Amino acid sequence: MQPRIIQSISLFPEIFEATLGVSMMWKAQNKQLIQFQHHNLREFGIGPRKQVDDTPYGGGDGMLLKPEPLFAAIEAAKRIDPDALVILPTPRGERWRQKAAMSMADDTHGLIFVCARYEGYDERVTTLIDRQVSIGDFVLTGGELPALMIIDSVVRLIPGVLGGATSAEIESFSDGDNLEFPQYTRPAEFRGMEVPEVLLSGNHAAIEAWRAEQAG
Ligand code: ADE
Repeated sequence: MQPRIIQSISLFPEIFEATLGVSMMWKAQNKQLIQFQHHNLREFGIGPRKQVDDTPYGGGDGMLLKPEPLFAAIEAAKRIDPDALVILPTPRGERWRQKAAMSMADDTHGLIFVCARYEGYDERVTTLIDRQVSIGDFVLTGGELPALMIIDSVVRLIPGVLGGATSAEIESFSDGDNLEFPQYTRPAEFRGMEVPEVLLSGNHAAIEAWRAEQAG
C-alpha cells in the first residue's frame, strides 16, 4: 500500500519538520503509513527577492500573502498528489472536532495544508481550497500550529499508527466528542492520594460504568 501523503505549504517548514519528526508522527512515517512533504512558500516567491506578500488594496495595516506564490505552491503540491484535499486553517473556518478527525482518518485522500502568515492572504486563493478549518475561537499568528494539530488528530487514528489499535477501536474508546476518563498506574497510594477504589476492584462492569461517568 502506498503511504498517504500529507503536504504543507508554509514560510516555516521547519516548524513541521521539528514536530512531525518525533514520537508517533515519526513512527507513522517510519512504518510507511504516512509520507510528509513540506514546501517552503518562499521558493515560490516573485523576483530576485522571492516576494510573497504585498500591501492590501483599499488600505489597511499589514501585508497579505500574494496570490501567485500561493497558487504556484498549491499547484506544485497537486502535481505530487492530484486527488489531495486542500485545507486552509483559518479562524473563519468550520470548527475542528474529533468526529471530523475520524472521518478524515477513514478517508484515503492525501492532504495539503496551506498555512497563512502575517495579516492574511489574498482571498482569491480560496478558489483552490476544499476546506477551511478553525481549531478554536482565537487567533494565532499563522496556520502552522493549527495544521499540526489537525494532522496529529488524524494521523493517530490511522490504523497501525497507535500500537495496533484500529480507528474503530479508538473511536469506541473516545466516542466522538466524548473524551477521556482519568487514569492511574502504580502505586495505589502516592503522597496520601489514593487510586479510586473501583479501579482496584477487578469488577469490569463497574470499572466501565465509572469510566463512562467520568468521561462525561
Ligand atoms: N490561523 C490563525 N488562527 C487560527 C485558528 N484559530 N484556527 C485555524 N487557523 C488559524
